[in-house]
Amino acid sequence: MNLSSSDIEHLLTTSDPQTIDSLYTAAAAERDRVYGRRVFMRGLIEVSNHCKNDCLYCGIRRSNSGTKRYRLDKEQIMNCCRTGYGLGFRTFVLQGGEDAWFTDDRVCDIVSSIRHEYPDCAITLSLGERGYDSYLRLREAGADRYLLRHETANREHYGKLHPAEMSFDHRMQCLQDLRELGYQVGCGFMVGSPYQSLDTILQDLQFIVSFRPEMVGIGPFIPAEGTPFAERRAGSVEMTLRLLAIIRLLHPTVLLPATSALGTLAPNGRERAVQAGANVVMPNLSPQDTRALYSIYNNKLATGSEAAESAADLRARMNAIGYEVPTDRGDYQRG
Ligand code: 5AD
Repeated sequence: MNLSSSDIEHLLTTSDPQTIDSLYTAAAAERDRVYGRRVFMRGLIEVSNHCKNDCLYCGIRRSNSGTKRYRLDKEQIMNCCRTGYGLGFRTFVLQGGEDAWFTDDRVCDIVSSIRHEYPDCAITLSLGERGYDSYLRLREAGADRYLLRHETANREHYGKLHPAEMSFDHRMQCLQDLRELGYQVGCGFMVGSPYQSLDTILQDLQFIVSFRPEMVGIGPFIPAEGTPFAERRAGSVEMTLRLLAIIRLLHPTVLLPATSALGTLAPNGRERAVQAGANVVMPNLSPQDTRALYSIYNNKLATGSEAAESAADLRARMNAIGYEVPTDRGDYQRG
């Protein structure tokens, strides 16, 4: 659907409940038309909270000395996949900070083992910025998808969220490289991050429309202890829901997760996201003892529960609002 900047501005600022209601209804109808009343599950495995970067918003930033660091080894990761497979997951997402231990050789070894043991599953990586040759090797080892949020499409805004040594151009280049290598690519941004404005949001949406990523991850900014933004206000649930719906209308075939950050800020946040056009949930398959350590923001959801519990909980929540959660890779649908 074509929405002008002023349409979008109106949708983001209106306080008319009927307008918002019809926005959500229209977005959910678009999702139903492309994917049906189905919500895809991805098993999230948080492989490491070591990170060489120092993003101002992120709880696992390098200089947060309050974070106890961990990383999973291959065997632990394979165990997560085994558990997940048994629970019906057909996509595994390996997510982590930019940890030098995860060399190309190590990640390729892990990816090819998962590919070999679970040929019917999709493998998604979310390991930050790497070089073209690295992305190429990981792709050849069997990775299908890559998540790398662009964080903001506005260069000045990017500079206020990241230290000087990080580059907006490099991040954008990574997204182009991933696309060229045939990955299904996910970008995304936080809603309500410090210094975000209506203008930067419009630029994020323009970027999404022109790049047409297969996935878009958006969730509210939540302050994280031990970061320069610890005392900032969290992003709003309402704004996140409106943006999810707008993204669904602008790019109807996109895979759109109801993020844990949304579930963290509102008890029924993920259900409301699905009712506003989202169609992916990502329960945590990480081992119970490392979960609380992957603290990118405060009070992250389900830090104490087991994989089976998180999966069953989400499945029940989705069923309760009339959605099916298939045992399916949930690939991107072109049309
Ligand atoms: N609040 C919400 N989301 C965050 N992320 C990092 N820190 C925070 C935070 N404090 C998001 C970033 C990153 C993704 C893995 O998590 O957008 O890309």
